[in-house]
Amino acid sequence: MQAKAHFALFVVILSSLCAQLQAASLIYRPEDTFRVTSEIRENSKPADQYTPDTHLYLFAADGKKQPYSYVNEMGELVGFDVEIITRVCALVGKQCKMIMLPFTECIFTYKDIDYAGRGLWSQWVDGCPSYAVTTDRRTEFDFTLPYLATTASFTVAPGNPSGFNPQLEDYSAFTLVRLTGAPTNGPCLNRLRKTYGKFIVAQNLPEAKALLLNGTADVLFSPRTHIDGLDTLSERVHCDEGGAGILLRKGSNLATWWNPAFQTFYFSGQYAQMCEQASRKYGATVQCLPTPEFASPELLAMMKSEPPTASPDHLWKFVVSGKIEPYSFLDSEGNLVGWTKDFIEEVCSRANKQCHLMLAQVSECTTRDEELLYPGRGLMEGWFDACTGYFETMDRDNSWDFTAPYLISNASFYVKPGNPTNFDPTQDDYSKFVLVHADTAITNDHCLNRLHKKFKKLLDVPTRVEAIEAVLNGTADAWFTKRKGETQLEELAPRFHCENVGTSIMTKKGSQLPQWWDEAFQEFYSTGDFNQFCLEKGLQYNFDFPCVPSPMKV
Ligand SMILES: *[C@@H]1O[C@H](CO)[C@@H](O)[C@H](O)[C@H]1NC(C)=O
Ligand SMILES: *[C@@H]1O[C@H](CO)[C@@H](O)[C@H](O)[C@H]1NC(C)=O
Ligand SMILES: *[C@@H]1O[C@H](CO)[C@@H](O)[C@H](O)[C@H]1NC(C)=O
Repeated sequence: MQAKAHFALFVVILSSLCAQLQAASLIYRPEDTFRVTSEIRENSKPADQYTPDTHLYLFAADGKKQPYSYVNEMGELVGFDVEIITRVCALVGKQCKMIMLPFTECIFTYKDIDYAGRGLWSQWVDGCPSYAVTTDRRTEFDFTLPYLATTASFTVAPGNPSGFNPQLEDYSAFTLVRLTGAPTNGPCLNRLRKTYGKFIVAQNLPEAKALLLNGTADVLFSPRTHIDGLDTLSERVHCDEGGAGILLRKGSNLATWWNPAFQTFYFSGQYAQMCEQASRKYGATVQCLPTPEFASPELLAMMKSEPPTASPDHLWKFVVSGKIEPYSFLDSEGNLVGWTKDFIEEVCSRANKQCHLMLAQVSECTTRDEELLYPGRGLMEGWFDACTGYFETMDRDNSWDFTAPYLISNASFYVKPGNPTNFDPTQDDYSKFVLVHADTAITNDHCLNRLHKKFKKLLDVPTRVEAIEAVLNGTADAWFTKRKGETQLEELAPRFHCENVGTSIMTKKGSQLPQWWDEAFQEFYSTGDFNQFCLEKGLQYNFDFPCVPSPMKV
């Protein structure tokens, strides 16, 4: 057994040595080579000096991106991405392979927000090549150094019938269209300081093309530089930070070895040589990075930067839906900001933990079947450690763990102005009345039972809109909710608690998080610093955060 293992290790080292020799024997054209000066770190070392790594690194390709990764007429997956991954991995003795996966396993867009796909979260693959590095995507992903240039442009119907001019600062007289999931989105226009009005999303290129040709849209904002049958204007802008690289799972260590290997490859001149040949070989222009002589100072600085170091500590990942202002929301430039982010950063820094707040759909935290709640896939599979902003209730205690609450809340009843049916929340018997609640709210039948209220009819409606309507049109007498400030109805004074105290962070059962979090939060709170933090954030966001009462007042 022991001997076999040693032999296997030897084979791994030997094969990586061979890969190294093979890489070194490529035709070397000194005229293409940038002189490696002492200021460029020298990363090459003999392959036997690398820590043996038996992991097979997998990268996703959807097979449709000629010349980067596509299935050729023989059925093979080929292209520049396949080649560069093979070469860069060989330089440092890593085993790497591209596999076929739909791109939505890497990234997908739902209601204007980009989320990381299941394939990356669940470690089906280690990376997804050829994605523009953008501010918005950094919330959800890590990246390697860019290895392709990207650009953004404006495409119009032949002859530019609406007279669109990309140099204008205000685009609001035009209808814009973009492609779903593309980095050429609203936050990018905001970063470019452009004003815009109507901006439609097309699901694919044919749809965008039809919208331009039939006059529904005036201009397509996209990363494409040529689209058959349309005119792409010559103006170029950038939505990316330095180009396109490999999209990685947040907290991935891949860039710690990939980046130095790629830097060596780039400065050796072999990158330029391979990239130039690839355009001929794969029959379409590869958007090569400029050679070091022609690179912008920003790109050169990036290429000379120290590689990220692998952290031995766990990266604690917290998720939010990103749509709850001022708690957690995407600002106009695509950054995830808000009270929750500031709060998590504060507690984590006090606990000396590495934390990151990112986006996930609510269903990855919790799903429901009628009134029963179940934990979501993302939390159970360990895609992330915690979901923020959940009330701890008896129903939820069955399946999740919670931290100590940090925000308080209460529930109340809203009636039609004037309370025409004389609903009295202080009575214990509500059975003569029809109640309504929004179906995901914790103000549900279980809560009424825990409050020892008798009731006969509790209507389930999808959202607050229908709940308000039901009270206004007389279908229901009262709406049971945690919402505040609903001005169309009258709020009755009595307050109720459906949760233990208030809002907490929710984790998988058995998670280590509540233990270190509660310890750090307890100290934050008991010193009065937390309430001071709440006051300051209240001024910053101009919002009265319902923080748990200060310990001084208790
Ligand atoms: C223009 O094309 C789009 C996409 O095919 C279609 O949805 C829309 O109805 C068309 N509008 C007109 C005015 O023809
Ligand atoms: C109920 O919540 C509101 C808003 O968060 C707060 O102003 C009020 O003091 C709370 N009332 C009780 C009785 O807890
Ligand atoms: C009242 O509003 C509710 C909720 O939208 C709806 O389901 C119901 O049909 C409405 N009833 C009447 C009588 O308009």
